[in-house]
Amino acid sequence: MKKGDRVVLPFNVACGFCKNCLAGQTGFCLVVNAGFAGGAYGYVAMGPYRGGQAEYLRVPFADFNCLQLPRGDEHEDDFALLADIFPTGYHAATLAEVGPGESVCVFGAGPVGLMAAYSAMIKGASKVFVVDKVPGRLKLVEQIGAVPIDFSKGDPIAQIKDQTDGEGTDKGIDAVGYQATAEQGEEQPALVLNSLVEAVRPTGMLGVVGLYVPSDPGGPTEHAKNGELLFKMGKLFEKGLRMGTGQANVKAYNRQLRDLIIAGRAAPSFLATQRLPLESAPDAYKRFDKREDGWTKVLLKPGQNA
Ligand SMILES: NC(=O)c1ccc[n+]([C@@H]2O[C@H](COP(=O)([O-])OP(=O)(O)OC[C@H]3O[C@@H](n4cnc5c(N)ncnc54)[C@H](O)[C@@H]3O)[C@@H](O)[C@H]2O)c1
Ligand SMILES: [Zn+2]
Repeated sequence: MKKGDRVVLPFNVACGFCKNCLAGQTGFCLVVNAGFAGGAYGYVAMGPYRGGQAEYLRVPFADFNCLQLPRGDEHEDDFALLADIFPTGYHAATLAEVGPGESVCVFGAGPVGLMAAYSAMIKGASKVFVVDKVPGRLKLVEQIGAVPIDFSKGDPIAQIKDQTDGEGTDKGIDAVGYQATAEQGEEQPALVLNSLVEAVRPTGMLGVVGLYVPSDPGGPTEHAKNGELLFKMGKLFEKGLRMGTGQANVKAYNRQLRDLIIAGRAAPSFLATQRLPLESAPDAYKRFDKREDGWTKVLLKPGQNA
């Protein structure tokens, strides 16, 4: 690392030398957050690291964590997405072991779900369904050549099965997490996991990058408050399904994804809906948090004038 280098950082903080880092599992570093596997910037339980939406960031083990970018300012918005959602979407497709010619259903058309669908296509999927109900997000699904499934217009599992000869997809991705809502908007923490168990065909694989937490004080039931969900384990077993979970190991993919961007083979910033100065962050977060239509992904530009 030299002063003046242009770099992008993973949202994970990792040491580079513990046994998980050495195995490429940098989302589960054993060193940077004592007593816990994994550290991240500005994230609950993930260590003493301040958030990255700032003009300056203190970076431990910088030589290991920084990914070098070409000089200049080309692909700036695409490269910014290498910090989290592009590698996270790619991780989802990797956990689901998406391969050429396969069909995939993705629940959630937020930034992570859109990147998961995009990554599934990079990995050669022939048909990708993305489930959500926010119109602007479903439009982006269509724009990348995936099939939008609007769950406010009817059971998403039936809609997916109708378009896969009644069989369901080969693979499935959870890009929603425990804050999944039913059609009317009430929170049902296990809804997306159970939908995947139904929508994916027997022997399929599930990639779960949507967040689940060991305790959720705002959870709708006593069990949910303790991170215990009513999950269709019997159906999962009966169908011989497998499931991969967890934080994305950004460093396992960000160099390769950077090179796809440089080669013109990937341009993830298609999903950016706003580019705003840092001062607009509180308002932008509020709008994003409400899933306001038209606020899919905000890129903050420190130094840009309000
Ligand atoms: N594993 C990781 O490393 C990692 C990294 C980044 C984000 N995440 C997690 O990924 C998840 C998605 O992130 P995001 O930024 O895209 O969030 P987001 O909230 O913008 O997107 C979630 C989308 O899911 C939709 N949704 C809600 N209930 C649904 C249902 N029943 N069926 C289908 N869609 C439904 C919502 O309308 C929303 O558009 C979050 O849980 C986030 O914490 C994980
Ligand atoms: Zn480590």
